[in-house]
Amino acid sequence: MYETILVVHSYLAYIVLIVLFLAVANAIMGWVGDKMFTMEKDLRLSLFALIFAHIQLLVGLLIYFISPNGLQAVQALGMGGLNSASRLLAVEHPFINIIAIVLITIGWSRHKKFMEGQKKFKSITIFYGLGLILILSRIPWAQWI
Ligand code: HEM
Repeated sequence: MYETILVVHSYLAYIVLIVLFLAVANAIMGWVGDKMFTMEKDLRLSLFALIFAHIQLLVGLLIYFISPNGLQAVQALGMGGLNSASRLLAVEHPFINIIAIVLITIGWSRHKKFMEGQKKFKSITIFYGLGLILILSRIPWAQWI
């Protein structure tokens, strides 16, 4: 069960990062180029990024409770007993990623309030962009397959 969820979390991470990157790049081009915000491309891409980020959040929460490197590590060693590698997995990665996904969700909600394409693209650029930077800053690169 744990191994299966870890594999799902690992592979889903590729999809989340690719779709988020595409959504941010698309929003920057729309914002800078003062383009119209279309339902077919722009809305769909931003929505896909939101949905995949939320699925990853759920899988991440699940793995946090069943992994020996998640909550169990904190319970066994205590906050002070974690070294930098185990702190990354058990504390920094989950905490920062939850903040990142909250930012992405705020960006999505804000974009809906605006009528002008420029403001919609700006909201997606800033909030999804910040979310992506936070996620990238706390990926456990060394152990990722
Ligand atoms: C977009 C968000 C996220 C991305 C891109 C992401 C990505 C990853 C990656 C690449 C790994 C390494 C997997 C491997 O070793 O093969 C990992 C591990 C882990 N993630 Fe996430 N993650 C995200 C969100 C979360 C969240 C929200 C939580 C918990 C609340 C979480 C909890 C964990 C835990 C506990 C591990 C360590 C699992 C283990 O080694 O046993 N992740 N994550």
